[in-house]
Amino acid sequence: MFKLRKFYLYISQLIAADAVHQVFSGRNLTLALPAALSLFPAATPQQKGAAADLSYGTLRFYGEIDTYLKQLLEKPLTDERLHAVLLVAIYQLLHDKADAFTVVNQAVHAVSQLKRPMAKSWAKGLVNAILRNFLRQKDALNAQSQTNEVAIYSYPQWWINKLKTQYSEHWQNILAVGNQHPPMTLRVNTHKISAQDYLQLLARQEIEANHIGAQAVELKKPIGVDKIPGFTDGVASVQDYGAQLAAQLLDVQANMRVLDACCAPGGKTGHILELAEVQMTALDSDETRLQRVQSNLDRLNLKASLLVGDAASTDWYDGKPFDKILADVPCTASGIVRRHVDIKWLRRESDVASFVAQQAKILPNLWQMLAKGGQLLYVTCSVFDEENQRQIDQFLRNHTDASQLPLDAALNNPQANITHINGQLIPSNAHDGFFYALLQKN
Ligand SMILES: C[S@@+](CC[C@H](N)C(=O)[O-])C[C@H]1O[C@@H](n2cnc3c(N)ncnc32)[C@H](O)[C@@H]1O
Repeated sequence: MFKLRKFYLYISQLIAADAVHQVFSGRNLTLALPAALSLFPAATPQQKGAAADLSYGTLRFYGEIDTYLKQLLEKPLTDERLHAVLLVAIYQLLHDKADAFTVVNQAVHAVSQLKRPMAKSWAKGLVNAILRNFLRQKDALNAQSQTNEVAIYSYPQWWINKLKTQYSEHWQNILAVGNQHPPMTLRVNTHKISAQDYLQLLARQEIEANHIGAQAVELKKPIGVDKIPGFTDGVASVQDYGAQLAAQLLDVQANMRVLDACCAPGGKTGHILELAEVQMTALDSDETRLQRVQSNLDRLNLKASLLVGDAASTDWYDGKPFDKILADVPCTASGIVRRHVDIKWLRRESDVASFVAQQAKILPNLWQMLAKGGQLLYVTCSVFDEENQRQIDQFLRNHTDASQLPLDAALNNPQANITHINGQLIPSNAHDGFFYALLQKN
């Protein structure tokens, strides 16, 4: 094992550097990592696994790593792939268990493999010098970085400032939780098996888990989807506990007309249908993503009427009001950064206003499709107030037939293990940072 790490670590470094480079060219990591892996078809499963860890880790701590690297460089590097190899190697030197000299030697070897018209000996010498300087000067560099919030928290400064303003008490905790590895939580299909019986099934397969709320079971250690008992038969699905609150809060009853307005990939659609036999319309503007909803429903053996359409338009609407609407609107996803570590670096501050504008079109449009006495659950996976309560306040000012219902009864239950402020989930070990507002039509 040691030999493998020692002699072939550079392959993982190269894959990770390619993925990181793609992210900084604007591609999200979910697409970038498979593309980077495809460049190395001979990589072993261990090398691929290590490459994924290095990609996620480097982006998770990019603010810190980049601050160190800037201090070590006399002038910015023009070669972006070389730069990416250095970022990955510094990540390893700061946060990985691999032996420091192996990391340096392998990174030097990695740059010699880059295909480009650059002087390889120059590149090797540079990487060697920078990484060895890093090791020598680590304490002094660390002391200097402690005055820089981007280095301390590994988020863009605008993001840190926004959370400081919006969460005087919780901002540091929100930033810290966003840098942790996410928990793996399952949703048990209690239509098929009780949560308690499912826990026993897990125990028999030596998978340690805790029942953290209604249908939610958190695994002590993440496992591959193929190892989840009953996954292919629709007995369990992977879904964050915070996301699982949507179906509970919507509280559907059999035969209701329900609209899931931004449904793909269908996590919440499946959950709602597991809880009651409703007439479900599942809408999404992205046809490709909608195919994933169909395959999820097929796995769960559930049915919905799937529509490609814009939730901000009535083009697809048959004119029959819905009893319940779930509006899981497009958002910055700032509440799920620990799962999508690239978001921190791909989002621009100006994106917040663009999402707010999209949400402000979708919400009133869906409202006219809601029956009198019906309820609409507005959801984001964001912790930014502009997309959340501020968006709802603006909507309520313009809609006198709407009232916001308190969520305390559902969320304050001590057994529910939820940290929230008026429907804003504060990301925790148990759940991501979702926002929920339940609106009733008077
Ligand atoms: C947060 S995701 C939804 C997650 C989903 N509810 C689940 O639990 O699996 C937001 C979805 O909104 C879709 N979307 C974005 N703009 C839309 C629009 N104008 N109309 C309908 N869907 C939209 C995106 O394609 C994306 O699938």
